[in-house]
Amino acid sequence: MIQLTQKDKERYLNELIDLLKIPSISANSAYANDVHAAAQWVSTSLEKAGADSAKIEPTAGYPIVYGEKIIDPSLPTVLVYGHYDVQPPDPLELWDSPAFEPVIKTTDIHPEGAIFARGACDDKGQMYMHIKAFEWMIQNDQLSCNVKFMIEGEEEVGSDNLEAFIKTNKENLACDIILISDTGMISNAQPSITTGLRGLSYMEVTVTGPNRDLHSGLYGGAVANPINILAKMIAELQDDKNKITIPGFYDKVVTITDEERAEMAKAPFDLKEYIEAIDLGDIHGEEGYSTPERQSIRPTLDVNGIWGGYTGEGAKTVIASKAHAKISMRLVPNQDWEEIGQLFEKHFKAIAPKSVKVEVIAHHGGEPYVTPIDNIGYKAAHKAYATSFGVDPFPQRDGGSIPIVPLFEKVLGAKSVLMGFGLDSDAIHSPNEHFGLFNFYKGIETIPLFYKNFAELSKTVN
Ligand code: BES
Ligand code: MN
Ligand code: MN
Repeated sequence: MIQLTQKDKERYLNELIDLLKIPSISANSAYANDVHAAAQWVSTSLEKAGADSAKIEPTAGYPIVYGEKIIDPSLPTVLVYGHYDVQPPDPLELWDSPAFEPVIKTTDIHPEGAIFARGACDDKGQMYMHIKAFEWMIQNDQLSCNVKFMIEGEEEVGSDNLEAFIKTNKENLACDIILISDTGMISNAQPSITTGLRGLSYMEVTVTGPNRDLHSGLYGGAVANPINILAKMIAELQDDKNKITIPGFYDKVVTITDEERAEMAKAPFDLKEYIEAIDLGDIHGEEGYSTPERQSIRPTLDVNGIWGGYTGEGAKTVIASKAHAKISMRLVPNQDWEEIGQLFEKHFKAIAPKSVKVEVIAHHGGEPYVTPIDNIGYKAAHKAYATSFGVDPFPQRDGGSIPIVPLFEKVLGAKSVLMGFGLDSDAIHSPNEHFGLFNFYKGIETIPLFYKNFAELSKTVN
């Protein structure tokens, strides 16, 4: 067990507050200077924590912060990955306090307080746990592995430049395990380790009807309204069992054995609580699967945004020329994101009536990931949680995506251990994002145990 001192806790929190004040929104170029400032901040904090060197590596987009401490080449090396960029905070009016003015407040789930700010949980708070755990290990003479940090600034916009970076720096990034805190766990009483991530295929569609906006009285009823048509086409993408209707969509989906499903069902999940927490009328999803299965082992299709026509104050009678939607599909092994994007495009064009034109473009994407639990990385993490929480963690496949994780395995040949300390209720990507102080400190206390266990387990296999 590691117990942080009150003084250390206060300092760690104040430092994190500092970082959270920087609006490093990678999606919005108006914040470019802030994204660069966050990179600088992370680099400086790595140096202060005890890294031998910390560098800001430029890319074609936002830089990658790289820092390392090599204590003994014969010891195993841990590569820590995280991101310093954040999602846009919109819609701003739904925040109870400004997104980049962090405040501490208690909630039912976080009675000991939580820090509210964009990026608190995803991923500044979780990434910073690693820098502080590293500092703690150095100060307490407990660093048992070499460490490399690679903290990027484009995760929320698809990590476009990271693949080239890891390919070019393959030798420098050589490691025995990749350690990431950018996911969640079941609850503060029941930790879990993420063993899977879904892939992603993100599309944008435009439906064009007439060549200009028309008076809906003069033309209404006689021309195809692209918004009506788009709504109908989207509705057709799922059948009445909530299965996706794109031909070939499920062809490569790996079916989960009954044993695995039974194992998954052992993880605590309270459907009533789930429904109440987000105020649902009823649950919804693919027939034949439970809610936890629907959000982890099954692929999905969701509209993320839809627009067109008149949305201003009052009423305007108009048939718009164009209607648009952003549609994402979450993928599971062994679906291929580019292939799924092509199947989507082909199908979407095929179901369009002749009265409209359809354009489909593919945005970023990424492959799904699953990791077995019989490797020493997972075992070291399991033991670390068991020690610090006093309860055995469950392996759990998450529904979100970190497209770079499968690429790490391909390029660097190393497995990733996903030690997430966030909760689903922490509102990542939403207004009022927060991160529990319990989670922040518990993370910092659990990470050094991982290093210790990993170093010990590495000896047994070598
Ligand atoms: N940290 C999240 C991913 C995540 C969150 C995984 C919770 C599992 C549990 C990451 O920052 C993220 O938001 N990823 C995006 C994909 C990316 C390509 C924009 C996502 O999942 O939507
Ligand atoms: Mn993240
Ligand atoms: Mn995110």
